[in-house]
Amino acid sequence: MNLVNVFDAEPGMILARDVKNKEGRRLMDVGTLLEEKQLKILKMWGILEVHVMSEDANNGHRATGSFTEICPQQTMTETNGVASVFHTNAHTPIDSSNPLDEFLENWFSNNNDNDPVLLEIRKLTHEWFDAQPAIFNALVSRCENPPPPEVHDEKLKMPTVDPRSLLNDEIKLPALPQIYFEIQTAVDDPRFSGREIAEIVSKDTALAATLLKIVNSAYYGLRQEVSSLSQAAVTLGSQQICNLALGVTVINYFKDLPGCAPNMDAFWRHSLGCAIMAANLATHIPTADRDRVFIGGLLHDIGRLVFLSYFPKAGTAALNQSHVQGCGLIEAEPKFFTVDHAQFGRLLSEAWHFPRQVSRMIGNHHNKFTTLPETETAVVYFANWLTSALGIGFSGDAVLPSLNIYAWKALGISPAALTPVLKQTDRQLTEAIRFFYG
Ligand SMILES: [Fe+2]
Ligand SMILES: [Fe+2]
Repeated sequence: MNLVNVFDAEPGMILARDVKNKEGRRLMDVGTLLEEKQLKILKMWGILEVHVMSEDANNGHRATGSFTEICPQQTMTETNGVASVFHTNAHTPIDSSNPLDEFLENWFSNNNDNDPVLLEIRKLTHEWFDAQPAIFNALVSRCENPPPPEVHDEKLKMPTVDPRSLLNDEIKLPALPQIYFEIQTAVDDPRFSGREIAEIVSKDTALAATLLKIVNSAYYGLRQEVSSLSQAAVTLGSQQICNLALGVTVINYFKDLPGCAPNMDAFWRHSLGCAIMAANLATHIPTADRDRVFIGGLLHDIGRLVFLSYFPKAGTAALNQSHVQGCGLIEAEPKFFTVDHAQFGRLLSEAWHFPRQVSRMIGNHHNKFTTLPETETAVVYFANWLTSALGIGFSGDAVLPSLNIYAWKALGISPAALTPVLKQTDRQLTEAIRFFYG
């Protein structure tokens, strides 16, 4: 019997053990012949590794000859019967004559390149940009084209803006659609059944149709198609339907705002990338709820969206300032706003009665933790940082902030787990953009 990375598994291998998810639910039976379809499903479920029969036991089917070559040093842990392997790879030497290496030298300049975790992440980033030249070129052009001097000079004289004025009665933001609050009230009331909650969601036919499409997408990878929201509420739980309704409602809300921020595509690509990354990370972290961190990741930057939509001059000035000074957006914002976008996002999410944990993720996604943070907060923090590092969409940062080591440690995973997380995120992102924002 051999343990193989799912991305290295090949058609013809046979499962030597049941494949289970982290809750211990059996997903695929021992003895299953792995063909293209089964391999695709395993990847969609976020399975890292599987046990397959060795060549002898495999009755002529091919076994896993390359495994020990790919993972020269490994330690193994067992979680609910699903094995995961921690790899330690040697760092690839940096070639300063290569434009990608040269760019990464600068891009990672705020991060300690002697740290083994950061070395691994940098190597992963290198491979990612190698395979995604369009993303790399877009990031380089953002970083290498500073705004004209007169733009930021003028903006530096701007008065400080207090975005909290949007939350009082004078200049109020338009309310979220009533349907969201109806769903949330029903979910919080134990007298409502999943079917009754599904009926409330179904009152908004566009929302219901979008939710069904998402539930049946590769993101969930359900074995059977779900044809109604009642069935979806039973399969996924009514809280998850409420979370998805929140995500879709908030995206639609901002799509409908007049004079909304430019470059929305890059904004939502970053937000969805962060959401999917967070959800895929959570499949490897027993104490993180995949669906909750998805919504936290999706909405983590709503404060930034409001800044750009309602205060475009100050919002753009903060962006320019961060670019000119080579600091993170979060460090530039206090010159222009009384609260930064993470603080404002938290205030807004509380005003809109988002789940408490989601508000916490939003408020802390740029935190400089000095102790281990709560796991789900750490997941969204790290997903945001990694999504920025990989240039997925645009985070608003012209330099990559330093990775907070407490947030990384709170995840309790090995850097080797990031490779399948990234591959899966890449595969799911295009479809997710179509469903949420298409
Ligand atoms: Fe942010
Ligand atoms: Fe972000």
